[in-house]
Amino acid sequence: VAWTDFERATIKDIFSKIDYEHIVLFLCLCLIVYPWTQRYFAGFGNLYNAAAITSNPKVAAHGKVVMQGLEKAVKNMDNIKATFTELSTLHSEKLQVDPDNFMLLGDCLAIVVAAQLGKDFTPEVHAAFQKFLAVVVSSLRRQYY
Ligand code: HEM
Repeated sequence: VAWTDFERATIKDIFSKIDYEHIVLFLCLCLIVYPWTQRYFAGFGNLYNAAAITSNPKVAAHGKVVMQGLEKAVKNMDNIKATFTELSTLHSEKLQVDPDNFMLLGDCLAIVVAAQLGKDFTPEVHAAFQKFLAVVVSSLRRQYY
């Protein structure tokens, strides 16, 4: 993947600006809006409704774990595929997550990032972020067969 200087700077800038305390809402959003994604989190306890999901400490903790995964991609923008080989195998073979869900989660993240950045989330910034998500998703899909 070829990145422009603008795209590189924008992705790093987004991850330095986001409010990590509240960004975990993206995982809540995914579980609420795409309820079939709840089936993979049977060990997380009560996901019965939106209030239960947003106040579930396991969901909040897992949102941070996913963000840490994404930070690895930001730090290795020239090698995201290799960076995510193990994570892809985990989601495919062990967790058996339907890979169509990856972009649904990515879109939820884009919505929460957009809400946090406000007017700084310009169309150019959105395009750069969407490209980053597309590379992440295609890397996570790689070990599926
Ligand atoms: C675990 C990242 C999408 C379900 C994880 C872990 C990371 C991660 C870093 C922890 C791995 C470890 O413990 O070594 C991501 C990223 C995603 C993504 C970057 C896409 C942007 C999804 C989606 C689902 C999912 C869409 C299901 C709908 C799970 C489950 C676990 C997990 C069930 C194990 C949770 C646990 O029991 O602790 N993911 N993930 N992931 N992921 Fe994902």
